[in-house]
Amino acid sequence: MSGPNKNYDPVEVTPLHADEVDRTRDEALEAFRAAPDLAALQEAKVAHLGERSPIALANREIGALPPQGRKEAGQRIGSARKAINEAYASRLAVLEAEHEQRMLATEQVDVTLPWPAPQLGARHPLSLISEQIADVFTALGWDVAEGPEVEAEWLNFDALNFQPDHPARQMQDTFFVEPAGSGTVLRTHTSPVQARSMLTRKPPIYVICPGRVFRTDELDATHTPVFHQVEGLVVDEGITLAHLKGTLDHFVVSMFGEGLQARLRPNFFPFTEPSAEVDLLCFVCRGDSVGNPDRPCRTCGSEGWIEWGGCGVVNPRVLQACGIDPERYSGFAFGMGLERTLMFRNGVQDMRDMVEGDVRFSRQFGMEI
Ligand code: PHE
Repeated sequence: MSGPNKNYDPVEVTPLHADEVDRTRDEALEAFRAAPDLAALQEAKVAHLGERSPIALANREIGALPPQGRKEAGQRIGSARKAINEAYASRLAVLEAEHEQRMLATEQVDVTLPWPAPQLGARHPLSLISEQIADVFTALGWDVAEGPEVEAEWLNFDALNFQPDHPARQMQDTFFVEPAGSGTVLRTHTSPVQARSMLTRKPPIYVICPGRVFRTDELDATHTPVFHQVEGLVVDEGITLAHLKGTLDHFVVSMFGEGLQARLRPNFFPFTEPSAEVDLLCFVCRGDSVGNPDRPCRTCGSEGWIEWGGCGVVNPRVLQACGIDPERYSGFAFGMGLERTLMFRNGVQDMRDMVEGDVRFSRQFGMEI
């Protein structure tokens, strides 16, 4: 900056010449106009309006003019600064509006676009079916009973009237818990819950017990060493085989539909006498496929009936072993496999699908089966 012009000599101050001021102003206006975005405009602002910009420096030169020259120079610089400021403000407004438009366009959310939905789990069909069975029986006023999976050999076999030499007690059928002679097994069926229920409850007893059981089978399409059964037990006065049949018919209808029924075929179990296999009238062909080669049924193999489980009248020796007076009370029991039930009911071809834990298998059953 030039020093104060104390003795009023006219001083040549180039930046204050009208041409120079116009040039400075026009350069600033052009720079703002040409700024393509807000960052460039900010840079142009520093260059043309900042403390060290030509117009700011020229403004400071006014004091160096003789008094008679200051007014005109002041007006010239003032109107140039005003024009530059206005040019900046209007360009700023334009660029800000553009920026906002761009943000609105690029940050727009299309709520109709598909999105990567988190994978929901699904309850296992075995859990669903065992709850459904429990519901059928709790609706009749029965209790759900439970027992341990690691079970006393006595409750799994002896209390249920298995003789010491019964083949089921052998190593090739039963998992014995170490050490040898511990008297403990992985329960091979849910029937020890019968014994437990009778030992801990007083008749009348009405219980249903879904649970996991274990046998030394290799895993293949139709066998698994760990599977599920559901056991039913009633002990009351005057209970007969007719009550058993009526209960099973109700069970069949609740699970498979109106008009279906159970059939009993004589069999042997140590803990029931008489004992029977429970068959279920095929819920697909309802027996129509029998002797009708034109209409074969895959669900029952055109047998008309589907093998479902075992049942019988509780053997009085079992009542006795569990401290119940067989002269006063009688009872019935039944048991069926849940994996098997799912296989024929839902057309599951391979039991391994039930144990592999692939959620896609469970998901196809939904929450209702
Ligand atoms: N516990 C028998 C089994 O595992 C089934 C059964 C239960 C039979 C109750 C009769 C009564 O094969």
